[in-house]
Amino acid sequence: MARILVIDDKASMRAMVERVLGEAHAVDTAADATDGLAKLANADYDLLVSDVRLPDLDGFAVLARAREMAPDTEVVLMTAYATVEAAVEAVKAGAYDYVAKPFEPDDLLLTVSRALERRSLRARARAAERALRHRDGLDEMLGEGAAMQKVRFLIERVCDLDVTVLVTGESGTGKEVVARAIHQAGARRERPFVAVNCGAIPENLIESELFGHTKGAFTGADQARTGLIEEAGEGTLFLDEIGDLPLELQVKLNRALQERCFRRVGEGRERPVRARIVAATHRDLRQAVDAGTFREDLFFRLNVYPIALPPLRARGEDLFLLARHFLGLAAARFGRPVTGFTPEALAALARYEWPGNVRELQHTMERAVILADGPQVGVDDLPDAVNSAAGGLPRAEGPLPPLAKMTYKDALDWGRDRTLKLYLDALLRRFEGNVSHAAKQAGIERESLHRLLRKADLDAAHYRA
Ligand SMILES: Nc1ncnc2c1ncn2[C@@H]1O[C@H](COP(=O)(O)OP(=O)(O)OP(=O)(O)O)[C@@H](O)[C@H]1O
Ligand SMILES: [Mg+2]
Repeated sequence: MARILVIDDKASMRAMVERVLGEAHAVDTAADATDGLAKLANADYDLLVSDVRLPDLDGFAVLARAREMAPDTEVVLMTAYATVEAAVEAVKAGAYDYVAKPFEPDDLLLTVSRALERRSLRARARAAERALRHRDGLDEMLGEGAAMQKVRFLIERVCDLDVTVLVTGESGTGKEVVARAIHQAGARRERPFVAVNCGAIPENLIESELFGHTKGAFTGADQARTGLIEEAGEGTLFLDEIGDLPLELQVKLNRALQERCFRRVGEGRERPVRARIVAATHRDLRQAVDAGTFREDLFFRLNVYPIALPPLRARGEDLFLLARHFLGLAAARFGRPVTGFTPEALAALARYEWPGNVRELQHTMERAVILADGPQVGVDDLPDAVNSAAGGLPRAEGPLPPLAKMTYKDALDWGRDRTLKLYLDALLRRFEGNVSHAAKQAGIERESLHRLLRKADLDAAHYRA
């Protein structure tokens, strides 16, 4: 069943079309172009059937507006002036088809069904194109576990939208990889990707770096310069280490993002901000807001769509996947025949906490490939820090100090919540998000499982392929 909007100023005509099409489809009607276009703007119609002669606008103008407002909606024009020229004009203007009044119900039905068929073909072609593009952008980002699946899901959902994204995560977790994936997978991929490290530019230069400056704007500005916002154009501006941006600049950036325009240093004229913004930080910005080092208004403006990257130690099996990947890359790069790990080396990798996350793993693998004598990386090829972690207790992920400050009872509660989460995550992974199967394995009712999932803040949908 398709959603169809009919615009015709004659009530009898509207009633007739509604009767003919209403059997198989959901039909809305409008008596003039103004009302019709308002309806079109507020709902997703598959098809617009419009009279050419309307009291306020002619049908070709409606067609042009519809193309802009709802490019996915097919259009069929109806007219009493069945001339060849009008038909040609309609097709040129992007209407799929044209019915000449008076028409038989079957003529209308046939034209409408052809238009709808074309719409569904186009929608499928577009979906296929989008899926390819998304895969392209996400290929660089490895990880099959639930945590990274969720990150990938979040990227796919947002990449085509003009929404500001805030990527957070410990150092080396892949924040820049995510920013690039959003750009690559999204509609702006052909436009520039411009990265700014807000923490690496001297404070007195950041403003002119971001916004540009005129000639003579300050001592040493002997030439005008475009800023990075302008260089990004309609592409993506990646504001890396946004937590390190000085307060004064936070105010200026917030204003630019709020008003979608900015001024070059030394210039009165306002220029538009067209770029999509992706920001990243390893800091806890909420804490920075509380501490007064980060502006709350800027935080809210950036925190529209947060993507939190999990630390490597919370990614389960992905650790080995990444380790093998980096081992392979390093072996090829250094021309060394290293292909795997000894079981002891694997155990050591698994026990270590990886404070430097993926980047640390990458460097560790490069070093190991250089040191390895045989085809396998052994414990001797790993840094002391990695090996000494292997000797002690298996380390719990997350905050040890808080645990040490808990009462016995709170510690048990904490452990139970974590165990529950680990357990549910494992179940959902095994059954790929199928709650019925997972509940059966767990030996509990589906409803109970749903309750536990809510408690553990897990969403079965994220585990489905
Ligand atoms: N999921 C992943 N798959 C493959 N490589 C990854 C992945 N995540 C990170 N990397 C690699 O790890 C390194 C660090 O990633 P990146 O620079 O994006 O991290 P970051 O979070 O920006 O780190 P920092 O906070 O230090 O700036 C890069 O070489 C990147 O290619
Ligand atoms: Mg980075």
